[in-house]
Amino acid sequence: MAFAILNGQLIDRSEAKVDIEDRGYQFGDGVYEVIRIYNGKMFTVNMHLERLAKSLDSIGISFPFTEQQLTEMLEMLIEKNNLQLGIIYLQVTRGVAPRNHAFPAEPVQPMLVAYTKQLERPIHHLQNGVKTMLVEDMRWLRCDIKSLNLLGNILAKQKAAESGCFEAIQHRGQAVTEGSSTNVFIVKNKLLITHPSDQHILRGITKEVILQLCREHDISIEERVFTLEELAAADEVFLSSTTSEIMPITEVDGKMVGNGLPGPITRKLQAGFVQEIEKQCGAL
Ligand code: PDD
Repeated sequence: MAFAILNGQLIDRSEAKVDIEDRGYQFGDGVYEVIRIYNGKMFTVNMHLERLAKSLDSIGISFPFTEQQLTEMLEMLIEKNNLQLGIIYLQVTRGVAPRNHAFPAEPVQPMLVAYTKQLERPIHHLQNGVKTMLVEDMRWLRCDIKSLNLLGNILAKQKAAESGCFEAIQHRGQAVTEGSSTNVFIVKNKLLITHPSDQHILRGITKEVILQLCREHDISIEERVFTLEELAAADEVFLSSTTSEIMPITEVDGKMVGNGLPGPITRKLQAGFVQEIEKQCGAL
């Protein structure tokens, strides 16, 4: 039997149902996290829970549990579901209340839902790289909040899927922001460039690990806006996320990146990332 957490309770997953007036369901009024599990252990869990706290704070939901309580609950969920390799999906909504755009007048209990999924590492793509396409970024101006409202993101990803691409790289005019569910990096003359973590993108946890790896491995990095032109002229391009790790991009909009093979800096960061996983979660 698989288990899920519904409001702090561990229950049979098939019985984890939410009310039709849950504000997450009606308005996307909530936030979420996706945490990677390797060898039954959560990777960078503190960073995820800190970001969750920030997202909750940005939309005025008070955190329903302490970080410590939540960590223990998630550990119990992993153990009960006997999960070795996969993810935890976790979301918190404002709660259940009669439909009204404004927040409920009477405070309601935020609704916490968490469940696990088995998921392999995308080894083939990590080795060979993926194709991507460009899509205009149509999202709102608080992309730093990991909101349940993902219409802009899913419409972008759907375009990519229909074009046989792994990811859609979004841009606001000439400025490249991020993928539909990933951060994007370019390398030019050994310099790594990625969009600053402001309100136009999500501050990816994988991105934060990459920045740390760059400091440790003396890789120069600039967090600044880069253009479509710079993307097209890059020596290397890669994306990052909890589920995709550090994934080489070998094609953007039908045009080959560099010589069409994953580049040396991407490879170096991939190796460093695996070391970091093994440090926290044990040998892969
Ligand atoms: N996506 N940008 C966006 C828009 C994202 O949705 C994500 C994560 C990232 C990368 O963040 P991180 O490195 O913390 O996973 C960047 C998750 C995995 C998802 O929605 O499934």
